[in-house]
Order: sequence, then C-alpha cells, then structure tokens
Amino acid sequence: MPSVLKVKDLTKDFGGLRAVDNVSFEVSKGEFVGLIGPNGCGKTTTFNCISGLLDPSEGDIEIFEQNAIVLRPDEIQGLGLTRTFQHTRLWREMTAIENLLVPPRNQFGDNPFYGILSYFFREEENARVARAYDTLAELEITHMAHNLTSELSGGQSKLVDIGRAFMGEPELLLLDEPVAGVAGPLADKIFNNLRRAVTEKQISVLVIEHNMDFILRRGVDRIIVMDQGEILMQGTPDEVKDSKEVIEAYLGGAA
Ligand SMILES: Nc1ncnc2c1ncn2[C@@H]1O[C@H](COP(=O)(O)OP(=O)(O)OP(=O)(O)O)[C@@H](O)[C@H]1O
Ligand SMILES: [Mg+2]
Repeated sequence: MPSVLKVKDLTKDFGGLRAVDNVSFEVSKGEFVGLIGPNGCGKTTTFNCISGLLDPSEGDIEIFEQNAIVLRPDEIQGLGLTRTFQHTRLWREMTAIENLLVPPRNQFGDNPFYGILSYFFREEENARVARAYDTLAELEITHMAHNLTSELSGGQSKLVDIGRAFMGEPELLLLDEPVAGVAGPLADKIFNNLRRAVTEKQISVLVIEHNMDFILRRGVDRIIVMDQGEILMQGTPDEVKDSKEVIEAYLGGAA
C-alpha cells in the first residue's frame, strides 16, 4: 500500500529543549497505527508538526506525496488530513449537533456561487444531517444533541470531537488521546469503529494513546513507541509487547 504520511528525520526544538529528536516513520493507506510513549516524550509535538501548526526545526514531512512543510494548516486539511486535539477544541457556543454540521471540506455551501444553487443540494444537506445524528447515536450521545458543548462533560466533549472529525470524511485521521476520560466500554466501541473504518473505507488512522495495555488490545496494525523525543521502536502489538526496551522504558526496569 502507498504511504499517505512520511515523516523523515523530524526534529523540533523549543529553545534549548529538543522535544522531537530525529523521528522517522510512515503510515500506509488503510493502516491503523498507534503512537505511544510516556508524558512529554513528543507525541503531540509530532502531530503539531505534521498538521502544520508548528514549523519543524529539521526534517521532511510528506502527506499524500506532497511536501507538507511548505503548507499552511488549512492547506494540509484540504489534502484530506483531519486531526483532533488532546484538549478538545469545540465551538462552545454551539450545540453538539451544530458542531458536527459545520462544513466539512469540499462542501458546496463554502462557495457563494454554489450557495445560490443550494436548493438543488437540499437532499445532500438532509443526508448530512441524518449522518450527523447517526454519528451521535453511534457515540451514544444523541440525548446531548441540542446541548451547548460548553455544558458537556470532558468525556462527552471528546466524543463530539471524534464525531466532528468523522463528519469531514478524512482520508488520514490523526487523533490525540481520543478516549482519555471516556468510559471503558465506549472507548472499546470507538476503537472498534475506527478499526472498521480503516478496513472498510481504507482510511488511515494515527492515534496517540498513553495507555500501553489498552493500545495493545485494540486491533491496531502497528505501534510506534516514543521515548524522550526519539522513536524507541516500531512494530506489531506482539513485537512491542515482547520488547525489552519498551518494558524498561515503561516500567523503569521494574519488570
Ligand atoms: N509550545 C511549546 N513550547 C515549549 N515547550 C513545549 C511546547 N510544546 C511542548 N513542549 C515541550 O516539549 C516536550 C514534548 O511535549 P509534547 O506535548 O509533545 O509531549 P506528549 O508526548 O504529547 O506528552 P503527553 O503524553 O503529556 O501529552 C515537553 O517537554 C513539553 O513541555
Ligand atoms: Mg500530548
């Protein structure tokens, strides 16, 4: 399968602190990859560089075979990449369902000329509303559809955020700790849905998760383990589980 994301020798310094240190990895089309590592090891910074929010200090990033270093975040999104944030960024003065209905990319309503023709796209509009409600149902938050997102709990906000990311029909989805604060059974269900979307729609997902035990049992194809800005190892869940280096990094040698 072709690579949808290539990160090569990525380094990011914040003053004297090297947050990401010469990191290289790829994600293929239709691949479900976990990115894991201790607090402060550089996972979110890596996402910020990929999505164009931070300029890398060194290195190359290709998204769908395009040089992403020169692109703005909105241009990167336009390529088909959607990301979520560790600290959810919803439109707080809007309801949950409205958050899902804010235009995904390539929607006719974005363009005033096509806006005039919107009458002809009413069916499409209705289908989108139905899909938004289906998405909320899938995430078990239909009852919150008309609540302002400022009224939602942390876990519920995470769910709306995931729903909104899905509504954009991304081809490459970057999720930063999507199930932190989400109750166990629902977290399982979300990962099952991600697995299904990857397999059936051939989208690619890179997901940050800090719980090693959790990610090992969630059907990801591959896990990238970071430690202190560097990649400690990459491999299948079985390979990671058996890696002495990983066990040491995680348990401080206690194992
Ligand atoms: N904008 C910034 N300015 C200065 N330092 C930063 C900035 N963003 C991150 N850092 C530092 O870079 C390092 C990596 O942070 P990062 O947020 O990427 O870690 P993380 O792996 O996502 O951690 P966590 O699991 O806690 O979310 C940390 O030492 C952090 O303090
Ligand atoms: Mg982080």
